[in-house]
Amino acid sequence: MKSTSVLQLLKGEQITQTVTIKGWVRTFRAKRFIALNDGSTINNIQCVVDFENTDENTLKRITTGAAVSITGTLEKSEGKGQNIEIKVTTIEILGDSDPETYPIQPKKHSFEFLRENAHLRTRTNTFSAVMRLRSALSFAVHKYFNENGFYYMHTPIITGSDAEGAGEMFQVTGLDLNNLPKNEAEKVDYTKDFFGKETNLTVSGQLEAETFAMSLGKVYTFGPTFRAENSNTSRHLAEFWMIEPEVAFMDLAGNMDLAEDFLKSVISYILEHNKEDLAFLEQRLIQEDKSKPQKDRAEMSLTDKLKFVADNNFKRVSYTEAIDILRNCKPNKKKKFKYIINEWGADLQSEHERFLVEKHFKCPVILFDYPANIKAFYMRLNEDGKTVRAMDILFPGIGEMVGGAQREERLDVLLEKMKALNIDEEELWWYNDLRKYGTAVHSGFGLGFERLVMFATGMTNIRDVIPFPRTPQNAAF
Ligand code: 4AD
Repeated sequence: MKSTSVLQLLKGEQITQTVTIKGWVRTFRAKRFIALNDGSTINNIQCVVDFENTDENTLKRITTGAAVSITGTLEKSEGKGQNIEIKVTTIEILGDSDPETYPIQPKKHSFEFLRENAHLRTRTNTFSAVMRLRSALSFAVHKYFNENGFYYMHTPIITGSDAEGAGEMFQVTGLDLNNLPKNEAEKVDYTKDFFGKETNLTVSGQLEAETFAMSLGKVYTFGPTFRAENSNTSRHLAEFWMIEPEVAFMDLAGNMDLAEDFLKSVISYILEHNKEDLAFLEQRLIQEDKSKPQKDRAEMSLTDKLKFVADNNFKRVSYTEAIDILRNCKPNKKKKFKYIINEWGADLQSEHERFLVEKHFKCPVILFDYPANIKAFYMRLNEDGKTVRAMDILFPGIGEMVGGAQREERLDVLLEKMKALNIDEEELWWYNDLRKYGTAVHSGFGLGFERLVMFATGMTNIRDVIPFPRTPQNAAF
């Protein structure tokens, strides 16, 4: 018999039908009640075993974590907590689970412990809910762009350029590290390497995406991105997924409109389609908050917070205005910030970003027109000669969610900037060609997908929203 999913069963409620269901035992109570979960939904289905007519050996093998196939009839449940249940006619143990050693016991586990068991943590309610939401958000990303006339482009993972100019890259080489070929200057001879040049894992698909924007008009990338920055924080990964739209004939104002509309759209999508997982995570946060002092408790529930973002305009503030606010704010004056803001030009740290969104504006904030010298080479220089058309979107509890800009479309200005920053013009000849042949105003942004998943799920450590996190000193699984 074809098996069905718990999700389908709970949706359909086709009472008295004979069904087959396969999943993993969450708990087995009183030799009678199996809570079965197959990952299709946060909900378990209760399967009632006729223990008198089931052999002792089978009963013993129904342990937490075991994979089973159950056939039975769907009945209205008399018990609390569920409307329907399966009255088991046959049960087959597909895969045993040793109750003594199975790490995911039916009790509360710390996230640290579950990170060490990341291969099994999606068998818990919290992590299965997070991963289903991650999947729904990915779908919502593609849906949004598809419905808005964007084409999905795959930009290379292995590149020869450092898009951000920050030099935080993982090198890709086929050379034998124990026997490196050297050139006359006693430096590694990359002409002997696989690609005949130095290559690395991409830090952003933007530069390549620009080539497609300047031909197909509206494009986006959504793929893995790598940064070798040694930031062991709850918001940084060495491998993360980035969404990068890029649009021809769009200026910075259009870029802000796009980013805001996009974020509201994907958040609205999960509010509509993932109610049960969100409700579960919301309850988790409410419980967690109970152990915190009043001042550290969330002001809004998870769904209220998501609704707030979906329904309200983001605040748009220039860097210059933000610096004025920060310079005059209490924590700055009382030297509570680690990095005191004294003058225009300072790079904003996460403590400043969080003050702006969490304490001052209390809503997502788009900061724009940053000083040129703290931003990447490709950003459009403003007429004042000192700021660039950059934008960062800051979210409460997260900090920077989006980084983007209108791109410098003037070849002479771009070349001057590259020269000043020692960026090899020859290496980026193709990028500069876009400014030689049919150049036009164009813009785009990058959104760190895991930061979006953090916001959407209320998880506070980025390691808990990606299946297998890669961070300094850690590439397990
Ligand atoms: O601000 P970033 O560095 O911008 C770029 O890479 C641009 N080329 C994007 C573009 O304009 N197409 O990174 C963009 C976003 C950040 O706002 C943040 O959300 C995320 O990527 N991000 C990270 N997420 C997790 N771990 C890291 N180490 C991240 N670094 C950046």
